[in-house]
Amino acid sequence: MTRICPFAAVALPLLGCTSPTSPGAGQAPEDSASPVAEELPEPYALEGLTVAADLDPQLDVVEVHLTAAVSSVEWVEGRQTEIWTYNGLVPGPVIAAKVGDTVRVVLTNELEEETTIHWHGLRISDEMDGVPAIQAPVQPGEQFTYEFVVPDSGTFWYHPHVRANEQIEHGLQGMLVVEEADAPELPERGFVLDDVYLSASGSFGSFNTNHMEQMHGRFGNLLLANGESRVLDGALAPGVPERWRIVNTANARMMSVEVDGAPWRIVAIDGTLLAEPLEVTRFRMPVGRRIDVEVLPQSSGDTVSLSVFTAGETYPVFEASVEGEPGPGEWTTWPATPLPALADPTQEVELVLNGRSSTSGQLEWTINDEVYGEHEALPVSADTPTRITVRDRSGADHPFHLHGQFFRVLSRDGEQLPWDAGRLDTVLVGGDEELVLQTDFDNPGRWMAHCHILEHAELGMMAELVIE
Ligand code: C2O
Ligand code: CU
Repeated sequence: MTRICPFAAVALPLLGCTSPTSPGAGQAPEDSASPVAEELPEPYALEGLTVAADLDPQLDVVEVHLTAAVSSVEWVEGRQTEIWTYNGLVPGPVIAAKVGDTVRVVLTNELEEETTIHWHGLRISDEMDGVPAIQAPVQPGEQFTYEFVVPDSGTFWYHPHVRANEQIEHGLQGMLVVEEADAPELPERGFVLDDVYLSASGSFGSFNTNHMEQMHGRFGNLLLANGESRVLDGALAPGVPERWRIVNTANARMMSVEVDGAPWRIVAIDGTLLAEPLEVTRFRMPVGRRIDVEVLPQSSGDTVSLSVFTAGETYPVFEASVEGEPGPGEWTTWPATPLPALADPTQEVELVLNGRSSTSGQLEWTINDEVYGEHEALPVSADTPTRITVRDRSGADHPFHLHGQFFRVLSRDGEQLPWDAGRLDTVLVGGDEELVLQTDFDNPGRWMAHCHILEHAELGMMAELVIE
């Protein structure tokens, strides 16, 4: 089975990029059941991923300890790749909470460089948002405790916000799940989809130094699902619907996902359960985007798969056999997130995305003609229905992400499209498109708005909104 393989530029055998016999870093060690984890209630399970142990016995407090440190994995056969992990895992452990819980994460930095953690999609205090403009990055050997209440249910993720293109690529990334208070009970499965660019020797090489990478972002040559370069496997029961939580954590690669072998539908986009689940044949996921999918396996003997379609090819990442006790065979009724009627906007914000060459010939990506670092923060009024127009003048795709708020898409080039439904925090602005978004800016503070192609953000495509 080839993945995004096959290291076209280097002389590796076609199958050389998979390491089916070696346990990937994404696998928990077999004897990982520590006494602590056994004594504490562990109500949430997400098949395919390790869920972090909750170290606080209080029911509405989740305490997780994350240590960022160097580790290694055999993604290229016979080669060790140095990776950076949370608790030795790529992706890091799933942080699971219920809506309204207090989440406390103690981060210990054992890397040789500073880092932070940003909670992608969470509407929390800006002081806990993990951006270096507000939080002094955690230095090597130091510790920082993040603590916040999670106001919204949904599938989120976490990652550093310092040199994010390098740190996320090296493996610092994880899923964060906030369960609905009235979550339907069904088996859940998680997929963290990423790609990495490795040389023939299995190393990451340099970052953002070549023009292609600066231009399009860093595209990998190895596709990873839950930190594994092989096709994951599993078993589903006939007629038992499952909830699959999927996130695209790649630096730049748009991934379309599709399920084959069973009816499926999109039930949530970013942090919102949709009023009307979406039936699609394939769903585009820009980087940063999450979806929740409901899959309804049919008959014993079927094979159900999840595949990533990218760059014109389909790559299976998960293949399951359907077997065992049959269930009711019915779709689930989802507690859709109530979406208030949109008030008439009384504030306008315009963000123009573009690129240019600096005087030294370096590519710069801009928002409103400014690169981050030489920018002026944009003041806006809080709790005000606001129309944000995002215009792409660069001709390149930019997955636009706004910290600390949700927005809704009013129109994309004048049209309202079903896949732009719900409250979002990340949305693709395709080359030359114009998106009109609406938000209330109901979470005051200093918040970043940036392209989630990490190389673009590093090269300036990040703005700062001061909401007060
Ligand atoms: Cu997913 Cu500013 O980040
Ligand atoms: Cu971009």
